[in-house]
Amino acid sequence: MGKIKILAFVLACIFLVSCQGVRKEEEKTSLRIGISLYRGDDTFINNIRSILEDKAKEYELEKGIKVTLDIQDAKGSQNTQNTQVERFISLDCDVLCINLVDRMDASVIIDQAMTAGVPVIFFNRQPVEEDMNRWDKLYYVGVDAKETAILQGQMVVDLYEESPETVDLNGDGVVRYVMLEGETSHQDSLIRTEWSVKALKDGGVPIEKITGGIANWERSQASALMEQWLTAYPDTIELVISNNDDMALGAIDAMERAQVTGVNVIGIDGTTPGLEALENGKLLGTVSANKELYASAIVELAASCALGQALPEEYPLTDGNYYWTPQEILIHEIKENP
Ligand code: GAL
Repeated sequence: MGKIKILAFVLACIFLVSCQGVRKEEEKTSLRIGISLYRGDDTFINNIRSILEDKAKEYELEKGIKVTLDIQDAKGSQNTQNTQVERFISLDCDVLCINLVDRMDASVIIDQAMTAGVPVIFFNRQPVEEDMNRWDKLYYVGVDAKETAILQGQMVVDLYEESPETVDLNGDGVVRYVMLEGETSHQDSLIRTEWSVKALKDGGVPIEKITGGIANWERSQASALMEQWLTAYPDTIELVISNNDDMALGAIDAMERAQVTGVNVIGIDGTTPGLEALENGKLLGTVSANKELYASAIVELAASCALGQALPEEYPLTDGNYYWTPQEILIHEIKENP
């Protein structure tokens, strides 16, 4: 009997404490979000960053909850990022949004977050599944790499079906291409490279690879590679397939320097400079994630985690913790002269 009373007392205490916790969260009128970017100078990440800032302001206005974003650049160093996370936690951030430097090395950040009880939204650089499964307050916002690649291949398949001569430039029945790849350790590079080519082959485009190389998402590295390829394979390249827009723009830079015209270039991201090149016809096409949704999913997910609320229905999660942003093909429209 005595034991039952003690148990009832303990349960009542737990109930009271948890109710207080809920009341405390309900009363929250401000949120502090710690954001660390793997590299602040990455074009796509920079685009997402500025939309994140807009979305945080929109959330603040709509909900009347003050949102403070503390955005840090890890400058390509996992150690720096780990220290930034330590600082975020010491400053009582309610939630963290982390664009990992090394996606295989999330353990220090997860340990720190779990100890402090601070939820984490990873984005763009996906932690391995084993890490994601360590805690139920870990989320990921990104883009499905296989879907991106299939869309990238599909845009050329559609064009080839419509007018083969715009893809097979010399009309010899073979489309010769070069491939520009992102960082080797990035989940997107390998999958995009493999599946874009597969989509082209499956779609019946007679492609043949000339060469390819890793340019780590960077315009200048891609430009240097393309310069070499233009010299090594003069008048041969018909298509440049790039894992992202920045490297596609690098290839375009090299062609402009070498005064080579007519080669089709396709990218991924729909970044601001990418869209500009698309508009003026230098870039044939790109696959663009819906960046408004990408950034709002991060902000909404972060805020609902911090406030202990359910995530709004517009952002359905797959496998409990993943939000996959919708994406679309954007292709250069050849405007007929009126
Ligand atoms: C990719 C994107 C690249 C680069 C990279 C950084 O998804 O296409 O341009 O931003 O993420 O992790």
